[in-house]
Amino acid sequence: MKVLVLHSHPVEESYGAALHRQTIESLKGAGHEVDDCNLYAEGFDPVLSRQDRVIYHDYPGNIEAVKSYVERLQRAEALVIVTPVWNFGFPAILKGYFDRVWLPGVSFELVDGKVRSKLQHIRKLGAVLTYGADPFRAFIAGNPPKKIVKRVLRAQIKPFAPVVFLAHYDMNRSTDETRGLFLDKVKREMARF
Ligand SMILES: Cc1cc2nc3c(=O)[nH]c(=O)nc-3n(C[C@H](O)[C@H](O)[C@H](O)COP(=O)(O)O)c2cc1C
Repeated sequence: MKVLVLHSHPVEESYGAALHRQTIESLKGAGHEVDDCNLYAEGFDPVLSRQDRVIYHDYPGNIEAVKSYVERLQRAEALVIVTPVWNFGFPAILKGYFDRVWLPGVSFELVDGKVRSKLQHIRKLGAVLTYGADPFRAFIAGNPPKKIVKRVLRAQIKPFAPVVFLAHYDMNRSTDETRGLFLDKVKREMARF
């Protein structure tokens, strides 16, 4: 499959970056064609400007400023997100990617006021997340990133597409052992994605 990988960690030496490298390596090893979209490395601008908002609904003019990102999304048959959790959401650069690239006419269209998905060519979704919080704290907070993946994004791709959700919780108390085990899990799961 053509897999678009979205990555949003600013530090190359981080554990999050290691998870990203492992994800890419395992997907490629399994024969997938990977488009590695490393948002920080590419200098993606996540700010939806005044002008962007004014023309937000005006397809196809609305895609001009982010055309290459739209084309990469349109080519994808699967999507994998590799990111830390910040303020129980995605880092701003990744949130801004969705704001600016998943536009009317690209990810959805309005037909008689109803939303119709335009990303049904994406038939599998994966997420590799790290949380500082333990699972209970994340649960009490409502675990928004998990819902974004399993409900919000999933609702916009092929109906009933499978989701592979992998998370290392409790990073604040992680050890070499827990990090190694999770890296192995990512290696295994992405090798059979
Ligand atoms: C700006 C910022 C906000 C954070 N907010 C949360 C949060 O709301 N919930 C949580 O579980 N962890 C939070 N964390 C912890 C990160 O998820 C954790 O540091 C990261 O997953 C560890 O991966 P890394 O060492 O590769 O950065 C936050 C960290 C930062 C830097």
